[in-house]
Amino acid sequence: MSIRPIHGGTDSGPAVLHDFSTNANPLPPPGALVQALQAAERRHYPDPQYRLLREHLAAAHGVAAEQVLPTAGGAEAIRRLSLAAFLLGLREVWVPEPGFGDYAAAAQALGLQPRGYRSAEQLLAALQAGALVWICEPCNPSGSSLSAETLAAISARATLTVIDGAYDALRLHGTAPTLPANCWQLHCPNKALGHTGVRAGYVLAPTQADAFSQALLAKVQDLAPSWVLSGEGQVLLLQLHRPEIQAWLAESRQQLREWQALQQALLARLGWQQNRTCTPFWLARPQLPWPDLRAQGIKLRDATSFGLPGWVRLATLPPSSQLALQKAIQS
Ligand SMILES: Cc1ncc(COP(=O)(O)O)c(C=O)c1O
Repeated sequence: MSIRPIHGGTDSGPAVLHDFSTNANPLPPPGALVQALQAAERRHYPDPQYRLLREHLAAAHGVAAEQVLPTAGGAEAIRRLSLAAFLLGLREVWVPEPGFGDYAAAAQALGLQPRGYRSAEQLLAALQAGALVWICEPCNPSGSSLSAETLAAISARATLTVIDGAYDALRLHGTAPTLPANCWQLHCPNKALGHTGVRAGYVLAPTQADAFSQALLAKVQDLAPSWVLSGEGQVLLLQLHRPEIQAWLAESRQQLREWQALQQALLARLGWQQNRTCTPFWLARPQLPWPDLRAQGIKLRDATSFGLPGWVRLATLPPSSQLALQKAIQS
């Protein structure tokens, strides 16, 4: 059985007009960001140590530069962290279910059989020391979120807890839980910034690092290819915490909240079952039968690979795309 994870968004087929299957921010990115990316240095290697970038990100997060590890995106970070943990002896891996497929794929590629958890209670009942636990906060595909207390309980038990905050900047409802100081964090801002083609992310090692985390930090660094982050990736990360970009993100969230309310009302009128969410994407069960939308330039993320046949994950898109979806369904 192939362990290649399945993803929404761009595929090998013709371009999609209304892509409800990607979790990337659908709003046009700010001009300043686009210009900065266009001006990215491509003729020379980035600093192999990424010193300025690491200092910049460290200042933004209030941590030491040594805790910041640039990566070629979240997907690369997941593979590298998994391999480093494996090399340090961890053999038990817990992944959220439903959850982003790369956590399980990374474990399977190392010959491990990851264990899925459907709830924090289930995880806590079975969790032993020696385990790596992946947490997606807020979670893709469900848009669910855990409390600070739950995160603390999990990270107190696991040997390594990695919190993937890929969609934290796109949290539309509720407040983010405080993350325990002994957790590893994964930041992949290309989705919130509407630039998933730029492969850039970073890992934050914990502020309260035990002996295992210190060894892991060294191992994750040793496993990085030279210049793991491209010149334009570096620019994306340097732009992220600028006040104009943060203001644009806040405006995006407001716009997405309004569009999401319209879209949820539309799908309710069409009789779709919809789960609660705190993100711009959520799980829904369409009325069956539903037409081949891909042929009509519309793509939804089939949730079968998340273990949810008959369900889809869909993202919030503007009213024009919602209308196109409505027409295609009713035609
Ligand atoms: C939860 C989650 N983490 C990580 C990633 C990987 O992101 P990237 O490699 O583009 O940074 C994705 C992409 O969809 C994701 O959904």
